[in-house]
Amino acid sequence: MEIQIINFQSHGDERGELIALEENKNIPFEVKRVYFMYNTKKEVHRGFHAHKKLQQVLFCPCGSCTIKLDSGKETVTVRLSNPTEGLVVEANTWREMYDFTPEAVLMVLASDYYDENDYIRDYDEFLQYVEACERKKE
Ligand code: TYD
Repeated sequence: MEIQIINFQSHGDERGELIALEENKNIPFEVKRVYFMYNTKKEVHRGFHAHKKLQQVLFCPCGSCTIKLDSGKETVTVRLSNPTEGLVVEANTWREMYDFTPEAVLMVLASDYYDENDYIRDYDEFLQYVEACERKKE
């Protein structure tokens, strides 16, 4: 399973660093929603869902956390520890987030508004959904 990382350009000078995120430029979709997780407790694992249509870019402007992505066939694990690295998460990808450092902020840019109908929160249902999508493509 391919990991898609966007390397954000950081505009650094003697004052520090600055990163700009622009829809349809360094973010590969129109951004309709931004949300972030912070103050995540030790040992907590979050996520455990996939989206039917939503595209997302995840990054940690501060601290670090681990993201596990699962296509239904393969899994990959990515440690987000650099504010210059954005992880693209496509639709039909089961995700889990864990090992947050105490100061970690996990930012998510999303291609659409919050819609519970776009969520698949049951893993077996996710596997069936992925299979059905593949059958449609054949
Ligand atoms: P939840 O889906 O449990 O987070 P995750 O699975 O990513 O760990 O979301 C936590 C709560 O926040 C839940 O009540 C739904 C709400 N929520 C919104 O209201 N808007 C949003 O954009 C998101 C992502 C969650």
